[in-house]
Amino acid sequence: MERILIKNTPNYIDKKILIKGWVIARRDHGKIIFLDVEDESKELLQVVFNEKLYDKVKEFNQDKSHPAIVAIEGEIAKRPEKMANLKLLTGSIELKSSKLETINLSHPLPIPIDNEGYEINEEKRLKYRYLDLRRQRIRQNLVSRHKIFQFIRNYLSALDFVEIETPVLSKSTPEGARDFIVPARLHPGKFYALPQSPQQYKQLLMVARIGKYFQITKCFRDEDTRGDRQPEFTQLDIEMPFVSQNDVLNIIENLYIKIIEELFPDKKITEKLFPRLKYSQTMKEHKTDRPDLRKDKNNKDELAFCFVTDFPMFEEKENGSFSTTHHPFTLPTFDTEDNPEEYQHETSKYQKLIKILDENKKEELLKLSSYQYDLVCNGNEIGGGSIRIYDPQLLKKVFIALGNEPEDIDRKFAHIFEAFGYGVPPHGGIAMGLDRFVAILQNEPNIREVIAFPKTGEAYDPMMDSPSEINKAQLKELHLKIEKEEN
Ligand code: AMO
Repeated sequence: MERILIKNTPNYIDKKILIKGWVIARRDHGKIIFLDVEDESKELLQVVFNEKLYDKVKEFNQDKSHPAIVAIEGEIAKRPEKMANLKLLTGSIELKSSKLETINLSHPLPIPIDNEGYEINEEKRLKYRYLDLRRQRIRQNLVSRHKIFQFIRNYLSALDFVEIETPVLSKSTPEGARDFIVPARLHPGKFYALPQSPQQYKQLLMVARIGKYFQITKCFRDEDTRGDRQPEFTQLDIEMPFVSQNDVLNIIENLYIKIIEELFPDKKITEKLFPRLKYSQTMKEHKTDRPDLRKDKNNKDELAFCFVTDFPMFEEKENGSFSTTHHPFTLPTFDTEDNPEEYQHETSKYQKLIKILDENKKEELLKLSSYQYDLVCNGNEIGGGSIRIYDPQLLKKVFIALGNEPEDIDRKFAHIFEAFGYGVPPHGGIAMGLDRFVAILQNEPNIREVIAFPKTGEAYDPMMDSPSEINKAQLKELHLKIEKEEN
């Protein structure tokens, strides 16, 4: 007999059908026993058993944390009117069972899955993540994530963007975090780095004349995990030739407004067009570069976006370290109202900029602004990017101002300097943190709620027990020795 999905069963009244799915609940009402069965169409069907099948049904533990997988044949019948449950798609029918086959039984579940689950210990939830994912809330988060990704892909493709994958076995890119390192068996003593972002590749794609690039991609950063940070996370990465800062911001603004209007019509955007605030103004007025501009912070459906622009090029951290606010590929400027190209050719502004970098005085460097922008939503940084340096000399001087030795710069970035010698267009882009965006849209307090298999706060995966040790033969093959730390 052909199997019917439960969502289609209302079309089969008075017909014999076969369903397969999970037993969600069992209810004994004296002479009648009911099972609620759910399948991958995510609808429930009430199944009624006659006395002949009682012994078989008794196999199922009454505890609803003990579901099993079954195949049931029977006839779809209309329920008596007063027994109808209008909340369910199948609420006016039931399956009168004539044959029941057990496909699989389940151990009692180690965690409850019929509630929100926030109260369960994190390590336990993630150890049994495949059960935790059965939870309605998390499933909804993943479906919503899928719809957002699909929307983004369609939207950008229609604007002639091309999605291009870039390598995961890569080389260190300076995004400000530590790299995850992969030993290279075929190159003793050498290592790949997992990309903190595809920054260099996307700029090389501009040299390759690819045109408008995007990618929904994993990025890897070895930094302390917290609510809005995971060691691996997903970016919508974008790069375009011949664009101004406004071009980049407009594309993101339009895309994000469309996503919300089409997929989240109940949400209210505080201000469409997103306010564009200068960094200095934001710091003065809100004391943060991630202002929360919601009118009513208790309203869960309010989304207050803003762009923060004109970040300083360099910053000095509390620990005294000197770095770029974004990354070294960002174009510095005296004034973002200026045409960026004035800073990449032999103009007076260019020469003045080179002089400041050559003199390398911290107080002068700290005064430099940059064509750099973030997108903020409800106080969260959900994206960031910049217009780039394409002049190799200027780029080298930024690296030197950051304290790198010239030989080191050549060793690490020779490919970029060489590539920029073959006609690189002016270009710029942005990367959007998609986990953070989905978490905000789903009203989740932590991005691990919208990632299928996230790590704990200690960057540990209790389900796979990862990271874990490798055996001696593997170590030998990789030319590695573990030094035990002395206490
Ligand atoms: P940036 O480092 O600002 O820019 O990253 C872009 C966005 O990615 C998100 N994000 C994270 N999300 C979850 N966990 C993390 N550990 C994490 N780190 C960052 C944030 C952030 O705004 N290559 C540049 C972009 C560019 O210049 O085009 C970059 O990666 O939402």
